[in-house]
Amino acid sequence: MTASFNTGIPAVDRYLAKGYDDVRGMSSRFSATITGHLLRRQSELGIGGSVAEIGTFEGRYFIAMGLALAEGEHAYGFDLFEWPGSPLLQRLQANTDAHGLARDRFTPRSFDTGKLTAAEFSALTGGAPLRFIHVDGDHSPEALTQDLSLAHANLHPQGLICVDDMLHPAFPFLVVAVHDYLKRHPEMCLMCVIDREDIVGAPKFILCRTDAVKLYEADLMQRFTAQHFTMGGDAMGHLCVVLTPHPRLMA
Ligand SMILES: C[S@@+](CC[C@H](N)C(=O)[O-])C[C@H]1O[C@@H](n2cnc3c(N)ncnc32)[C@H](O)[C@@H]1O
Repeated sequence: MTASFNTGIPAVDRYLAKGYDDVRGMSSRFSATITGHLLRRQSELGIGGSVAEIGTFEGRYFIAMGLALAEGEHAYGFDLFEWPGSPLLQRLQANTDAHGLARDRFTPRSFDTGKLTAAEFSALTGGAPLRFIHVDGDHSPEALTQDLSLAHANLHPQGLICVDDMLHPAFPFLVVAVHDYLKRHPEMCLMCVIDREDIVGAPKFILCRTDAVKLYEADLMQRFTAQHFTMGGDAMGHLCVVLTPHPRLMA
């Protein structure tokens, strides 16, 4: 990736260049870079608010989100914190300390999100609409449906929902839950596909309200020209942006 492939937020870019790979996790640096850029774009547009991640694991992607926040914004990280053989919460806190995400800028939430109502999720995330929500918890279709409903109910009108592990070979039909969600919510659409870096760093889908697409799509295509798959993606009647580490039409 070229030197110009960055978020434009110095603290995030330092973490992505030196630190990201040291934090155990699953999200790709490619996707975290585009996420950081989207968070910067929101700040520039005056779209404010806190962010949340469902499924922080040890904080790899969470730290990138947290370092992108403006003053007064907060990162909420949900997890069961029960991963076999790994004290997740302690490791999350050690990683946030090591990579400069101050403890007063984020709150870990030890909850099974499958058991939360939208009102409870709201109370646990500051009670105001969230501008960016990363959904990366339990990968069953039922759990993703539930997590999407929590995210949907708590999203800023111009905010973004990022869904991980779409088209991951270990979860080949998980995408059906997103398709069903979009059919239930025609005001929402798939704005961007962030393609995989490898089998672990799997694709993410970025969803937003249809009337917010214009805030993001042209900017993404201009900013990431070298990563833009110009054919786009057929997203239920909408041509979405596709960004990939190696865009090409032929094998
Ligand atoms: C794929 S990992 C997340 C990876 C992380 N987002 C990253 O980018 O490195 C999934 C996480 O979801 C958590 N999780 C699974 N089921 C959950 C649930 N019902 N509620 C909250 N967290 C859950 C797991 O404990 C695990 O840490």
